[in-house]
Amino acid sequence: MNPPLDVARIKKDFPLLDVEVDGRPIVYLDSANSTQKPRSVIDAMTRFMETSYAPINRSAYKLAAEATDAYEGARTKARQFINAPRAHELIFTKNATEGLNLVAYSWGRSNLRTGDVVVLTHMEHHANVVPWHILASERGIELRWVPLTPDGRLDLTGLDRLLDGAKAFCFTAMSNVVGTINPVRHLADAAHAAGALAIVDGCQFVPHNPTDVQAMGADFFAFSSHKLCGPTGLGVLWGREELLEAMPPFLGGGNMIADVRLDGFTPAELPDKFEAGTPPITEAIGFGVALDYLSDLGMTNVRRHEMEIAGYALTMLKERFGDEITIHGPTNLEVRGATVSFAFRDLHPHDVSQVLDQSNVYVRAGHHCAKPLMRQLGVSATCRASFYLYNDTADADALAAALDGAADIFGP
Ligand SMILES: Cc1ncc(COP(=O)(O)O)c(C=O)c1O
Repeated sequence: MNPPLDVARIKKDFPLLDVEVDGRPIVYLDSANSTQKPRSVIDAMTRFMETSYAPINRSAYKLAAEATDAYEGARTKARQFINAPRAHELIFTKNATEGLNLVAYSWGRSNLRTGDVVVLTHMEHHANVVPWHILASERGIELRWVPLTPDGRLDLTGLDRLLDGAKAFCFTAMSNVVGTINPVRHLADAAHAAGALAIVDGCQFVPHNPTDVQAMGADFFAFSSHKLCGPTGLGVLWGREELLEAMPPFLGGGNMIADVRLDGFTPAELPDKFEAGTPPITEAIGFGVALDYLSDLGMTNVRRHEMEIAGYALTMLKERFGDEITIHGPTNLEVRGATVSFAFRDLHPHDVSQVLDQSNVYVRAGHHCAKPLMRQLGVSATCRASFYLYNDTADADALAAALDGAADIFGP
């Protein structure tokens, strides 16, 4: 049995959690959006810029060679973190959005023709919807959609029919709105049985769960550094080697070429082929340290902690507010994370979040870049409290106390 997370100690690792606004502490419940950063990440990036900064790949001097090693070291850490077979299958992108666009543009444009089918789900983030819409309107591709059950899980009853003749099945491993954790292996197997690729959005899954892209059976897998304690400006796209090898470059420019002539160019080997221009060097250093931080805590421990806090929050909010609160998504903790979307009375989520802000309780209100899912839920927006490894039950209690304040302001 692994030890539980020592949240009091963990909180001390995150300088921002110590910041007071209007003389009072803050309660940060917006980690599904972006997480706070531990001191080790901040220090590593500062130290690198103060003592070791140099451009990578192009210069022969010592600092540049060391910076290149550090950048590639982050790729190796990321490979280990998601158990990918080979480091050069990991492409550093700007964020998960760019990774998913890379797949749609490069793999999609070279493999999909008019009449081909791509299957998506109603719970996708716009980053895994709009690139396919763009391609669909350009190429005449048919998009099919996996619906949801009333409690916010994928309704898989008609999956085989939807996948019939499909070339790709694009789905999130975990919903950014209702917290549902999808059965990725099952979905990937179904995709493969139909002759389709499994293109997985791992943006919400990787920060909260042990990840093994090989066990999942994914073909492509994208996630972002800033959602797992790392800096903004860096994402990862992992893809199976033979798929990436066969794909044309996405962006053209420096670093991604082996040769450039007047009559054309020869792309570089992986991963450079997909890393045009000067990459996010300092960010990669920070990302690697964020992965170290999570690995030291242990992702199994992180997952267990979040199950506990989700269980506490769901029960406590329901007991305290009864019919005044509607919590979207599954109640079974085995298939959900600690991302809690809710409606409070008939108040607009923006009003609720503004009142919570007066108590320094930071949640996100809006459509969460998941408008198809909002339509399924029959709402235009939700309030979303997303808990992470630095949140404890006191933070859930603070949310409840702040909701009491909203009830006071808006009356019975
Ligand atoms: C499920 C999911 N996919 C993709 C994204 C896009 O991530 P990014 O904005 O880092 O590209 C997000 C961000 O919220 C997300 O939650």
